Amino acid sequence: MPKNKKPDPGRPVYVLGEIVIDVILYDPSSICVFDQPVWARDIRFMLGGSASYVAQGLNALGCPVVINSFAGDDDLTSQLLRSLDRQGLDTGAVLRQAGVRTSICIGVSDKGKKRFIGCSLFAPYPSELLAEPPSNASLVYFGGLAMYPDLWDGRLAAYLEAAGKHAWVIMDTQMLPIPAEKYRTQAINWHNLHPVDVLLVNRAEAMALTGLHQPDDAGRALLEFGPKCVVVKLGSDGALAVQAGTSVTLVSKSWSVKVEEPVGAGDFFGAGLSFGLLQGWGMQRCLDFANVFAGLVISRQTGDMPDLARTLEIMESHFLG
Ligand SMILES: Nc1ncnc2c1ncn2[C@@H]1O[C@H](COP(=O)(O)OP(=O)(O)OP(=O)(O)O)[C@@H](O)[C@H]1O
Ligand SMILES: [Mg+2]
Repeated sequence: MPKNKKPDPGRPVYVLGEIVIDVILYDPSSICVFDQPVWARDIRFMLGGSASYVAQGLNALGCPVVINSFAGDDDLTSQLLRSLDRQGLDTGAVLRQAGVRTSICIGVSDKGKKRFIGCSLFAPYPSELLAEPPSNASLVYFGGLAMYPDLWDGRLAAYLEAAGKHAWVIMDTQMLPIPAEKYRTQAINWHNLHPVDVLLVNRAEAMALTGLHQPDDAGRALLEFGPKCVVVKLGSDGALAVQAGTSVTLVSKSWSVKVEEPVGAGDFFGAGLSFGLLQGWGMQRCLDFANVFAGLVISRQTGDMPDLARTLEIMESHFLG
């Protein structure tokens, strides 16, 4: 890992990427009337998208966070932002776009499994948010490279390259809901990925973006584009990491949780991994911590997020015992 990037958890993490309103239908047709399953257990509106979930995860772990993203100026967004402020997250830097409604994404959570239904249009990332790379960031996290084709023109790469002189650069690709062949060479290339220290993909993204079937082979193929490390998230099977300059594959094993809230798993994993890097931990410990943190978040039964002490306690007992 780069020697100039000293761990400094006191400086803020800058989180970039999409903010959307997630509308989630929980367990459709699970509540009976006259013995007939008809109603859903719940429908919730949440301020989602990678920028929101990563920031919430880091905030729960006690990291100072700046959200360098944008949203509409509609009333629902205002209300949802206020609920994040009540969790202690400072959302004051979110750029509110006059006369614009925040994109809405609809999904289903059925017995702990998530299903994507559809999203309204994503507005282009405002240039002003990328004009001045932060000089005081400890880490810059961009969630959703694939979601912003307008940023493959070099603006994002220039921002990350400048910020990355002193800060860690973490990127999650996400995936557009269209065949990856349509865009993968434009998104996944040296130009876009060379400033990245850790690239995060899930299993489906790893396969679609490389055309390879084994997650570690796909991870190694992605290393060719310049990131120093590629982490492949494997859902209930945990995660793995491959790093430039070594043929060793690090594995964080599966640990079993009952999934109550699957939305944002990958982003909470990214928050946990970022937290570990800021502590100066090695990649194996970062992977295990992220795996445990994501598992705790998605198995929470109340709205309360797991904190650092709880995550460390479970990590020590499950992974180091
Ligand atoms: N069923 C599960 N049991 C335990 N841990 C899980 C489970 N599902 C996800 N996780 C944890 O969350 C991490 C991220 O999940 P996943 O691989 O689904 O990422 P993702 O597809 O990027 O998520 P998202 O849909 O939020 O973008 C996994 O690597 C694992 O640590
Ligand atoms: Mg994801």
